[in-house]
Amino acid sequence: MVRIVPSGPILIEGPVELVHDGETVRSDRFIVAVCTCRRSHTYPLCDTSHRRRIRTARDEPDDDADDEDDEAGDDA
Ligand code: FES
Repeated sequence: MVRIVPSGPILIEGPVELVHDGETVRSDRFIVAVCTCRRSHTYPLCDTSHRRRIRTARDEPDDDADDEDDEAGDDA
């Protein structure tokens, strides 16, 4: 069984041997997650780094709102 996780790893029934850059990586896990995003620190195995996303301007706190809070605090 092989299952492809959208924006994530490929899940393969283990145990498996993966050959990467001439080295063989073996996993005896029941299900092995193979990294497809290349962000894994344990590549070719997935370490869930694919879950991290890039912060956008929309994620940033509103600096003006903080200033308003500070001003209100000064009056109190
Ligand atoms: S797919 Fe999970 S770290 Fe790359």
